[in-house]
Amino acid sequence: MLTDKIQSLLGEVADLQAADAKALEELRIKYLSKKGVINGLMGEFRDVAPESKREIGMKLNELKTALQDKLNELREGLATKEDDHSDLDLTRTPYPIAMGTRHPLSIVKNEIIDIFSRLGFSIADGPEVEDDWHVFSSLNFPEDHPARDMQDTFFVEQHPDIVLRTHTSSVQSRVMENSKPPIRVLCPGRVYRNEAISARAHCFFHQVEGLYIDKDVSFTDLKQVLLTFAREMFGPDTKIRLRPSYFPFTEPSAEMDISCNICGGKGCAFCKQTGWVEILGCGMVDPNVLEANGIDSKVYKGYAFGMGVERITNLKYQVKDLRLFSENDVRFLDEFTAAN
Ligand code: PHE
Repeated sequence: MLTDKIQSLLGEVADLQAADAKALEELRIKYLSKKGVINGLMGEFRDVAPESKREIGMKLNELKTALQDKLNELREGLATKEDDHSDLDLTRTPYPIAMGTRHPLSIVKNEIIDIFSRLGFSIADGPEVEDDWHVFSSLNFPEDHPARDMQDTFFVEQHPDIVLRTHTSSVQSRVMENSKPPIRVLCPGRVYRNEAISARAHCFFHQVEGLYIDKDVSFTDLKQVLLTFAREMFGPDTKIRLRPSYFPFTEPSAEMDISCNICGGKGCAFCKQTGWVEILGCGMVDPNVLEANGIDSKVYKGYAFGMGVERITNLKYQVKDLRLFSENDVRFLDEFTAAN
């Protein structure tokens, strides 16, 4: 009787199936738990005649092992099924991921840096809260120069000698102070001027200034570097023109215009029909500045230039209102996704 039962159970076990982990657990409970089939057979085994015990005991063990092997086999089958990704559609379009974009001022600043890096300039950094010496005095600003005036400069309260830098020329002063020529640096950074905020002016903006000091530096070198920059930035057909100007720290000084890149120089509202737009100030470093910063002006000469990143960005992307740059409106920022 018991032998027949075991025999038919062996057949049953061979055909067991489990579609998932839950079905497998049900099988385990049915056969191997305390109240399961195997324990039931053990109960019957007690009543088997002693002379048959050995043979039937072996059969019973065989059934138990077969069961355990079968359940293990089913468990492994389920595990590999979980790893099987053959039903994944890898060609399906993914869900769109909202990506941030680089700020237009950063895009343009990086482009400027990139161009001058290729010309051998390295980057220098300095503090935004500066002392009067590095912002003005070391750069040959006379004591009564209007740029020191309350209307232009933010002073730190109770510290008339500490200001928010009005240009990154202060970094150039620090570089001259701390290193020996030849010097070829680019100083990008935020600067502050006490102006009412409007579409055309802001109390802070961004500059990239450059300084080159060596033994035989001429105005021609400056002109060539700026022409190269203008062509790289605004296209190979861009023309430049230099107009005499004045800065305390350069002599001679000039302002540089480029042929209006919006109308191609024909004249439009942006260039006020002149065909030219101003983009930067430049000049040969005044010997007084070299001397004030510990550089022998009889041996060394230098040129410097400085531009506003907002101005260049306006020209490249025609942003009409300066305030857009600092408002963090994602609708504005998203427009630069393609430029990233
Ligand atoms: N520092 C000047 C400014 O802020 C720009 C400049 C730099 C001009 C170097 C000439 C030479 O306007």
